[in-house]
Amino acid sequence: MLVGELVRLVVLEQKHLDDILRGWNNPELRRFLGGMIPMGREEETEWLRSAIEGMKARREFDYVIERSSDGAFLGGASLHGINWISGSCTLGIAIHSPENWGKGYGSEAMRLLVDYAWNSLNLRRIELTVHAFNKRAIRTYQKVGFKEFGVAHKRIYIEGQYYDTIFMELFREASQRDA
Ligand SMILES: CC(C)(COP(=O)(O)OP(=O)(O)OC[C@H]1O[C@@H](n2cnc3c(N)ncnc32)[C@H](O)[C@@H]1OP(=O)(O)O)[C@@H](O)C(=O)NCCC(=O)NCCS
Repeated sequence: MLVGELVRLVVLEQKHLDDILRGWNNPELRRFLGGMIPMGREEETEWLRSAIEGMKARREFDYVIERSSDGAFLGGASLHGINWISGSCTLGIAIHSPENWGKGYGSEAMRLLVDYAWNSLNLRRIELTVHAFNKRAIRTYQKVGFKEFGVAHKRIYIEGQYYDTIFMELFREASQRDA
């Protein structure tokens, strides 16, 4: 468990299925993630199983974000696509319910995960992608130290429009120097 002031990160397990399903198909959330593809119970169960397999194989580390004050489920955060030779991985995060956005939970969860990547996994580079219109996420990533290193134009199609994807990265040296 990774423990902060506002949130704690606990390892993803099958028991989190209902919490995930409750908010996952909300269009307000979906447009910030992969798009409007719904996920049913069977597919989500399968996804959970493969995530757990990925953790066992040390390809990824998936956490559930819980509110520290009452243990409420807030969302998920993970490091995936780990390349142990290069010391690199990709980060993904989602606070599922819009009512919990903008309360500092995401920034703290990111900081906990980044510290874990550097100090427990000995990784040295984390990258992520974000839709260009997702200003809240971009601001959150910048606060944690991520820098933009590229743009893929009109890469993602959501509700009738193409949007740019921003690529961001964070290096351990820079992150620990700025801390
Ligand atoms: C992105 C996400 C993880 C951020 O977590 P969060 O808890 O909402 O973020 P925080 O409250 O820690 O920080 C948000 C920051 O963005 C700022 N912000 C909010 N809306 C903004 C906007 N429209 N434009 C610019 N900045 C904005 C806030 O002011 C805050 O910055 P500050 O601390 O300097 O004031 C969360 O909002 C989320 O999961 N959203 C839906 C799914 C998603 O977008 N996932 C990321 C996919 S790449």
